[in-house]
Amino acid sequence: MEEKARFVVGLDIGSNFVRAAIGEMTHDGIRVVGYGEAPSDGMRRGIVSDISAPCSAIDHALVAAEKMSGLEAPDAAVSINGVNITSTKVDGMIAVGVEDHEIDEVDLERIIDTSIAGKVPATRQILKNMPYEYILDGQGGIREPIGMKGARLEMRANVISTMKLDFDNVVKACTVAELQPSIIEPAVIAASRAVLTNHQRQNGVAVLDMGGATTSIAIYDEGELQYVGVCPYGSNDVTNDLAAYLKTIPDVAEEIKLRFVSGQFGEGSGKDITIKRGRGEYVFSRKDVDEVVESRLEEIFEMMRKHLKHAGYDRRLPEGIILTGGGAKMKDIDKYVCSQMELAVRVGVPINISGVNEDVAKPEYATAIGLMYADYEAAMTNGHTSASKKSEKKKSKAGGESVISKVLKLFK
Ligand SMILES: Nc1ncnc2c1ncn2[C@@H]1O[C@H](COP(=O)(O)OP(=O)(O)OP(=O)(O)O)[C@@H](O)[C@H]1O
Ligand SMILES: [Mg+2]
Repeated sequence: MEEKARFVVGLDIGSNFVRAAIGEMTHDGIRVVGYGEAPSDGMRRGIVSDISAPCSAIDHALVAAEKMSGLEAPDAAVSINGVNITSTKVDGMIAVGVEDHEIDEVDLERIIDTSIAGKVPATRQILKNMPYEYILDGQGGIREPIGMKGARLEMRANVISTMKLDFDNVVKACTVAELQPSIIEPAVIAASRAVLTNHQRQNGVAVLDMGGATTSIAIYDEGELQYVGVCPYGSNDVTNDLAAYLKTIPDVAEEIKLRFVSGQFGEGSGKDITIKRGRGEYVFSRKDVDEVVESRLEEIFEMMRKHLKHAGYDRRLPEGIILTGGGAKMKDIDKYVCSQMELAVRVGVPINISGVNEDVAKPEYATAIGLMYADYEAAMTNGHTSASKKSEKKKSKAGGESVISKVLKLFK
């Protein structure tokens, strides 16, 4: 039977950039057919803080991807971020009825409800519910109990949640941009989908996504997501610290970071750093620059190590750490993170992609690419399709009605 092309769309609403990617599922990954990015607005530390502001960035990024692919994307898997994202281990038990009863979907829904009850407050939105073990009549280690016979079912699961307000604001920002989210997934989990192999997930690995305003960690072991944590500092804080301590403008501080900062501190000390602006030039001591950057990175990666310890995986990940996000592009950052976290570290780019892959095979595209897999999963579950052949040339997605009137409607 000939299979119809299945298009998938990922939209990463980051603090610095909104990135969109459109692709086609193939038997061994994704063929990327379009992508686009636009500087972000209305975000605070990974959270949508002004729901009308990201609209034009979402619009620009998606329209660029649509134009490149010749497809239109009314739906997409969308990222969510921010320190309110946490993972909670839950467990529960239910009686599954008469002796010869076979476990079915209804039982699984019931045990999930029982496990979550009272453990995840009503002010929180559940983003993912990931059972990692079922125990049937005392026998543990079961991954998939459907069809098995038993009387007493127990479940252990990892529940990923965030504050309802953060979730609602992502939905509202998408609504203003006339985009229907097929699923809303934490950015670091999406990034993990793009850069990890099944073998790494099985063996034990962490993905560390260093963006502009946040740094997040997702830990995988025995094939399952074990833990997620977000810290409210990212690579922008390095730039801002440089600007403040060196008493210079952010633009010059960013150039210092991009051109001269390396994760191997102390190398090249003594040499000054010179930045040219017009006819003038700014000179900074390499030692001062190193001190400022190192102290901020130390703070961020100490927080990341605390997350590893809290999850029970400190120095216990055979596959080490994979870095993603724009912050992962800092020269020798892998060496610095290796010394701080005491694990093997490397920079990750999306794998198993073809098409216009050389443009998106970058650490900062991991989340948008991973979201395409999330979109595919959502399509398998809900039967929707995110992208299709363009029926007619679209104007701006949010065109027609003004953004302000759309926002006002959302609050009615
Ligand atoms: N070569 C580089 N060296 C150091 N930092 C870099 C480099 N390239 C990009 N960055 C930094 O990466 C950051 C942006 O990363 P990214 O695009 O992943 O953020 P984001 O996804 O928009 O933000 P967040 O995930 O925090 O919401 C910026 O602070 C930028 O300065
Ligand atoms: Mg990001």
